[in-house]
Amino acid sequence: MHEDLEKILFTREQIMQRIGELAGEISRDYEGRELILVTVLKGAVFFLTHLAQSLSIPVRLDFLSIASFSPGRTLPGVVRINKDLDHDIQHRDVMLVEDIVDTGLTLRYLLNVLSGRQPSSLVVCTFLDKAPRRLVDIPVKYRCFEIPDRFVVGFGLDYNQRYRTLPCVGILKSQIYQGK
Ligand code: IMP
Repeated sequence: MHEDLEKILFTREQIMQRIGELAGEISRDYEGRELILVTVLKGAVFFLTHLAQSLSIPVRLDFLSIASFSPGRTLPGVVRINKDLDHDIQHRDVMLVEDIVDTGLTLRYLLNVLSGRQPSSLVVCTFLDKAPRRLVDIPVKYRCFEIPDRFVVGFGLDYNQRYRTLPCVGILKSQIYQGK
């Protein structure tokens, strides 16, 4: 599958090192507290498992599954929740764990839904941040890496459900990726 990549942006070693650094920062910020990690299926699961194991604070895991509709195709930022959280997040410290923030429209919707459930705090932690594509201002508290405006796959990120299991993150060759 590596042959479908135009360029490797981050190797597995670089990813592991950066997740360790980020986990240290989060553990310090939440010392003495318990954190609910709310993860959006499926892409962010790879990031979540490594992040959660590296945290020194107690955490609980919960999952959301959504179907998002790309801007231009239907209503921008309209998201349907296919699987909701199993647990109540009221009065809890919540961190929304994402694979990538692109336009920010999906995240804006999710933050609106979750903040309506009155957690005591709610922050965003994303594996990748494609900041040049942002259409709405989203408060991203923690990020592993910023990336340029290119379509990337690997370490959970897919193209038509492929490439998720690549151990690195790379730019997909333009012959394969025909635009989203
Ligand atoms: P947003 O609403 O534009 O921020 O959309 C974010 C979602 O788009 C992510 O959760 C991914 O599913 C998808 N996405 C955006 N850019 C990429 C990419 O470069 N590779 C893989 N998926 C992407």
